[in-house]
Formats: sequence, structure tokens, C-alpha cells
Amino acid sequence: MSPPVRVFADLDGASAALARHVADRAQAAVRDRGRFSIVLSGGRTPLPLFRRLARGGGSGIPWRATDVFFADERCVPPDHPDSNFRQAWEALLSRVPIDRRRVHRLRGELRPISVAAARYARLVGRARVGGPSAPRFDLVMLGIGPDGHTASLFPGSPAVEERRRSVVAVRRSGLAPFVARLTLTPPALASARDVCFLVAGDDKSSVLAAILSAGPDGDPALPASRIRPPHPPTWYLDRAAAAELSPRRSASA
Ligand code: 6PG
Repeated sequence: MSPPVRVFADLDGASAALARHVADRAQAAVRDRGRFSIVLSGGRTPLPLFRRLARGGGSGIPWRATDVFFADERCVPPDHPDSNFRQAWEALLSRVPIDRRRVHRLRGELRPISVAAARYARLVGRARVGGPSAPRFDLVMLGIGPDGHTASLFPGSPAVEERRRSVVAVRRSGLAPFVARLTLTPPALASARDVCFLVAGDDKSSVLAAILSAGPDGDPALPASRIRPPHPPTWYLDRAAAAELSPRRSASA
């Protein structure tokens, strides 16, 4: 079954729809299991979504029962301009009534970075939402780069083929900022009840078309295509990113 694709006129429209979806999933998770766990993407694309959630766009998110994790982090201090944590903290997490202890930051400043990765892996290992065989997360949100990477899983990196560990250190970043990274691995990112990609801009239209047409096991050269949760990810796109999808695939939401 081909992954669900929702196309909007612009990033703001896609962000508004995703904000509503996050709120729906959060309320259902807390109703059914007493808590909601979400993994936030880095990069610039999610900023309008973060701001909308902070303003109440995801009205009714039970922040006091929410745990926030991060898909990846640059190996910089948390107050560094390149820090994914800093971006999410400033745009969203400092503006909502979340328990600071439930914001689980990837400690990009720790050295050696292998220790930082192992430390987060232990945290993720405890992050089951339900029984021992339940997924680790309720919702994982991701972006993609023009090279087809997601999180900090870059084409050609051994991290793309990691099947055992949930978090690894990536010493060579495939795109700026060219710093070492910490990233959740494909099995960790796929251990979710729901995975949503948010993609905008014409610089991603070609790689997006390639990702969505990758075979059932994905394409190792396109790491975003290798994220295979139990239920296919939903793609929230603006029209520019969807420009190379077939008319059938890119029917507006
Ligand atoms: C990161 C992100 C990365 C991001 C894509 C898209 O740390 O950079 O996790 O995977 O989602 O590179 O970035 P933009 O949204 O800035 O285009």
C-alpha cells in the first residue's frame, strides 16, 4: 500500500494539518495509555509547526502527560545556534506547560559522542508506550534533506544499515552543519504507532518522488525510504515539494 500523501498549498497549511493530527494522537494516547510520547525532527521545516503548537494550534495537547524526544542532534552545546534542541525549546517547549524533566534532550555536548549515543539508547530503551512489545513512541515526526537523508541518517552511512542499536553517533555529516551528530536509527524511528514526514520546498521535489517510488524495502541510497513503521508514514507536503509526484499521488488534501 502506497504511503498516504497530503498536499497543501504551502508549508503553513501543511503545518496546520499536522498540528491537528498531533493533537488528535496526543489526546488518544493519553486517553488510552495515560501518556503521549513524541519524537521531534530537527531542521528548519518544523518551525511553523512548532510555533503553531506553542500558540495552541495543537489545542488540547496534554503537555503535562507528554514526553518529548529528538530524532537527532548536532554535537554542539544546547545553546548553540545549530542545536535542534535549542530550536525546539525556543519555538515550542519553553512556551507550553511541559514538565522540563520530560523533555529528553540528546546531549550533543557530551564526549566521547559514543557515550552520548549509548546514554540516549538506554533512555529510549525504557521508552515503551505500553507492554514490552509495544512501540517505543506514539508519534515520530521527520523531515528529509535534498540528498534523501532523514534525522542524521545520511546516504552511505553505516547508521542507515544499523539494525541492533537504537541510537548511534555519526562522525561525518553529509550536509551542513558539518559537525558530528547523534541520531536515532531506522529501527528506533520505525518503533512508533505513527510516523509523519513534513516536507516543503521545490529543492526536495525530485528526491521526494524517488523516496515515494522506492520499493517495499526502500533504497539504501535514500535513507528516508528505509523508515518502515508498522503503519506506512503519512507525508505532509506543500505543493512545491509534491511537484514531481503523479497527479494521482499529489491530490490535494
Ligand atoms: C537535522 C534534521 C534533518 C532535517 C533535514 C531537513 O538535524 O538537520 O534532523 O534530518 O530534518 O535535513 O532539514 P530542513 O527542514 O532544514 O530542510
